[in-house]
Amino acid sequence: MKFFKWSLIAALVLLFAGGLFAQEKKATYVGVKGCKTCHKKEKAGAQFAKWKKAKHSKAYETLASPEALKFAKERGIENPQKAKECLKCHVTAYDADASMLGKKYAIEDGVGCESCHGAGSLYKKKKTMKALRAGKIDPASVGLIIPTEKTCLGCHNDESPTFKSFDFEKMKEKIAHPVPEK
Ligand code: HEC
Ligand code: HEC
Ligand code: HEC
Ligand code: HEC
Repeated sequence: MKFFKWSLIAALVLLFAGGLFAQEKKATYVGVKGCKTCHKKEKAGAQFAKWKKAKHSKAYETLASPEALKFAKERGIENPQKAKECLKCHVTAYDADASMLGKKYAIEDGVGCESCHGAGSLYKKKKTMKALRAGKIDPASVGLIIPTEKTCLGCHNDESPTFKSFDFEKMKEKIAHPVPEK
């Protein structure tokens, strides 16, 4: 009986410690600048420059345009840059707790890398990234998302005031940022 009691206590302690550990391992958002460090060089594919030039990087800015203000007004929203009804598709991690956002995270970056690839703190190390590329680690185990059509449809859908249709292949081509073959 006594042994049973102690094993129960030990099991509870382990469970508690396990819970703490799991919490510590939760991925946080490093921000576009956290990816830029390694993904800006031409020979690595210049993903940063490609993103910066395209519309996702402007998605927050867009929410201050006259058109945005018009959509907002129609919906009884005063400031779209502060309304979750708009931010949910126009910025990364709109609903994340402040503790989930790294120092380089900036709302002004709009739809950043991590909107499609997932929060980066657990996969952004060079060693991890290389192992991922080589297929030695399961992307999901470190929170890396290899985006599919479903990822895009999370925002490109008829909840958007401007939505018409979404052609995945065509749209994917417009934002393509491959790593060049070596
Ligand atoms: C310390 C450098 C470094 C940082 C920081 C970094 N990466 Fe990488 N990443 C790499 C390297 C190296 C590769 C392997 C491809 C290559 O050699 O260019 C890679 C590959 C990838 C791949 C392809 C993985 C695969 O399975 O093919 C994705 C997607 C990616 N990175 C996204 C990101 C995102 C998003 C961020 C920011 C959250 C980020 N990376 C931050 C170095 C980095
Ligand atoms: C977090 C929400 C979100 C996700 C996920 C997302 N997008 Fe977007 N996308 C937007 C927003 C918002 C805009 C409009 C930005 C602007 O014009 O200010 C946009 C604009 C675009 C544009 C430019 C519009 C045009 O017609 O040229 C392309 C291309 C695009 N997205 C492709 C994709 C693809 C492909 C995926 C999936 C791999 C994707 N998007 C995932 C929110 C998202
Ligand atoms: C479900 C996701 C989603 C929501 C919610 C959303 N948007 Fe968008 N928004 C998009 C996407 C995706 C685009 C790119 C065009 C398209 O496919 O609709 C876009 C484009 C726009 C554009 C046009 C940008 C351009 O370059 O012409 C404006 C303006 C805009 N949104 C304002 C708003 C405002 C204001 C709200 C809140 C009332 C809002 N959006 C809510 C996803 C969303
Ligand atoms: C709108 C969604 C979206 C955004 C934003 C985005 N990516 Fe991607 N990324 C994709 C898609 C889609 C692929 C192709 C996935 C596949 O292999 O089918 C991809 C692939 C990659 C790859 C691997 C390319 C290869 O050749 O295998 C790297 C590296 C990468 N992204 C880095 C980044 C970085 C860094 C940023 C920010 C500067 C970023 N991505 C922003 C959707 C996105």
